[in-house]
Amino acid sequence: MKSDLRGDYSSAAPDFAVEQAWAKYTPEEHALYRRLFERQSKLVPRYACPEWIEAIAGLDAAHEIPRFDEISKNLRSKTGWEIVAVPGLIPDEAFFTHLANRRFPVTVWLRRPEEFDYIVEPDVFHDFFGHVPLLFDRTYADHLHEYGKGGLKAMRLAAVKMLARLYWYTIEFGLMKTPAGVRAYGAGLLSSGGELAYCVDDPKPRRLPFDLERIMRTEYIIDRYQETYFVIDSFEHLMRETAPDFTPIYARIRHS
Ligand code: PHE
Ligand code: CO
Repeated sequence: MKSDLRGDYSSAAPDFAVEQAWAKYTPEEHALYRRLFERQSKLVPRYACPEWIEAIAGLDAAHEIPRFDEISKNLRSKTGWEIVAVPGLIPDEAFFTHLANRRFPVTVWLRRPEEFDYIVEPDVFHDFFGHVPLLFDRTYADHLHEYGKGGLKAMRLAAVKMLARLYWYTIEFGLMKTPAGVRAYGAGLLSSGGELAYCVDDPKPRRLPFDLERIMRTEYIIDRYQETYFVIDSFEHLMRETAPDFTPIYARIRHS
């Protein structure tokens, strides 16, 4: 792995799995996690999609960094997913293979206190708070499984860059239309202290209806609030729109 990543990859298995080593988290780390959780908890009733809100209510994850094996037991019985602990970002093939087997990679380490408001690499708070609750939603869970399989296929078609934009504008920064107004389901929004309110309330960014080809053509920025969000009607809508074979779409975009 690139050495500018923070995690310790030296003890990782070939699929990049590591032990969570829960007992090694310090009291300070649990306290920082709790503060992050409390800050976001004040925002989510107003800004998160109903599926996320429903799922977090069933999780006992507010007080300390969760034990992945306990969450996995629960998750397996609900939607057949489990969490796999990883040292941080992992290569595409390992990532897609985990998703294609209903395993969600969650980073083991927590950000430092000075990164309370902003962190570039995903840490355990982003991965857990942002991604894991939605794995309890049947349709979202099935969609992410399809995404994983689609990722392996995109590798064979040299189309990962186009597919990664789909992930970015849905799984990380997606918005959903609800009866109460637009709400966030993207993990990068749900775990963000500032962008969660911004993505819903601020007049500046574009909020476009979900458009698969446009998403695949839209570059994204990783170090500022997004300028463009794409809005789905529901996870069923997302599932339906991404069900067709992407092969001809990749070809069309590549040749335009
Ligand atoms: N339909 C996509 C393909 O043919 C696979 C996919 C499904 C990708 C769902 C993303 C999400 O490649
Ligand atoms: Co993420």
